[in-house]
Amino acid sequence: MHRRIIAPGALAAASLMLAIPASAASYSPGAPGIGDPYYPAYGNGGYDVSHYDLRLQYQPTTDELAGTATILAKTTQDLSRFNLDFLLDVSEVRVNGAAATFATSGQHELEITPKTPLPKGTPITVVVRYSGVPSTKSAYGFTTWHRTPDGAVAADEPESAWWWFPSNDHPSDKATYDVSVAVPNGTQAISNGTLQSTSSQLGWTRYNWRQNKPQATYLATLALGRFDITTSTSDGGVPVINAYSKDLGDNDGAARASVERTGEIVDWLSGYFGPYPFSTAGGYVPNTTTGYALETQTRVYYSQRQFANGANTSVVVHELAHQWYGDDVSLKGWKDIWINEGFARYAQWLWSEHEGEGTAQQLADYVYASHPADDAFWTIAPGDPGPEDQFELPVYDRGALAIQALRNEIGDDAFFAVLKGWPKEHAYGNASVADFRAYAEQVSGKSLSALFDTWLFQPTKPAAPAARSASITKAGVAPVQPKSWKKIAATNDVH
Ligand code: ARG
Ligand code: ZN
Repeated sequence: MHRRIIAPGALAAASLMLAIPASAASYSPGAPGIGDPYYPAYGNGGYDVSHYDLRLQYQPTTDELAGTATILAKTTQDLSRFNLDFLLDVSEVRVNGAAATFATSGQHELEITPKTPLPKGTPITVVVRYSGVPSTKSAYGFTTWHRTPDGAVAADEPESAWWWFPSNDHPSDKATYDVSVAVPNGTQAISNGTLQSTSSQLGWTRYNWRQNKPQATYLATLALGRFDITTSTSDGGVPVINAYSKDLGDNDGAARASVERTGEIVDWLSGYFGPYPFSTAGGYVPNTTTGYALETQTRVYYSQRQFANGANTSVVVHELAHQWYGDDVSLKGWKDIWINEGFARYAQWLWSEHEGEGTAQQLADYVYASHPADDAFWTIAPGDPGPEDQFELPVYDRGALAIQALRNEIGDDAFFAVLKGWPKEHAYGNASVADFRAYAEQVSGKSLSALFDTWLFQPTKPAAPAARSASITKAGVAPVQPKSWKKIAATNDVH
């Protein structure tokens, strides 16, 4: 600011800026966290990434990952130093071509000091050369790198990038990606977006994947192992690429009978949410057994556990619904998780209705009646659940119940207009629960503050809405369990 006082002319300011020594007071380190109160150290301040180019090599027998990340970004402050979030071993860092010094700190911080400080608004190219065995690294005592007998998988929320690429690890800094991975012939590498090409040399096959739409870091995925890859195109024209571990055993049939319906389900969801936002769709089923699936952008991660009891299209609907609610429109901060999970769960209810296994209203009534007022279920507020309870059942089930309450309050016409308009309103961007309320109010012309407060923010069981109370409390008997209930409940074994 004092520069402007001394030299108001733009040219004078520019020349003066060049004369400022590296220690100039206005240049400061970027914050080690992006400012999310749930996860203070996640992401970083001082710059904004536009693209990640990852050129990697992976050896499944030893779990060794090595390569180079080239990160395109722009500074958002006068920057003397900045951080990336990363756990592997770094051998070299360059900023705009010049060697930079670097150090590690905290749980997952890579601190980079460029040779010359970077004025605000400068495009920067950061090259990080690295290697390591991801399964040997942990932060806060945990790892989300899933080793399998034939390779590994990076897929978790809210963190998974630290184990395979340096990043500004927060959904508020979305970027495009090129992910190129060489694996021994016979092994496949699966990632997001479109498979641009493969090539082989000296016993290695390189897979080149491109995500050409903005993507949050936690939605970037990498799977290495022996996969069978299938391709098709939906009636609506969406190219679908799926991959199945060759090691799924008895779960193979149920996995394919579910995930091969991706194109059909994407087209069906488009009817509610508008055009599919990405250039490809699909999923992969590695030989992992995590309790959760994940909406990794364009290439959903499923664990084989989701298919242990037969086909599970409900989980496919959930993860594909996230492509609009979570991936296209991403949350601003992790407290906004209802924007993701409430709507993905609600899509499962719509699918149940479509399949003739119980309507959304029946499922809402069932959830409402299943949890008595003193059930801890009601103490978790889906609108701001806290980091500990971010993926607990109330965010999903109470979250979807809130959406049914909204539907009943504003009527089907306005409700479905909101459902379809929202992804368009915030396409490829970020939004909060408050933004959603404002949008629903704008579309419906109703004030919704009381409704949102009651259903999303109060730590108590809401009174049954008058119009529903007769069916809900009929002789104190819980509504019949809709047929789809067990499938939906099994979809997200989120604990
Ligand atoms: N977004 C995922 C889903 O709803 C949940 C991921 C939960 N992560 C976890 N580590 N439990 O499908
Ligand atoms: Zn989900």
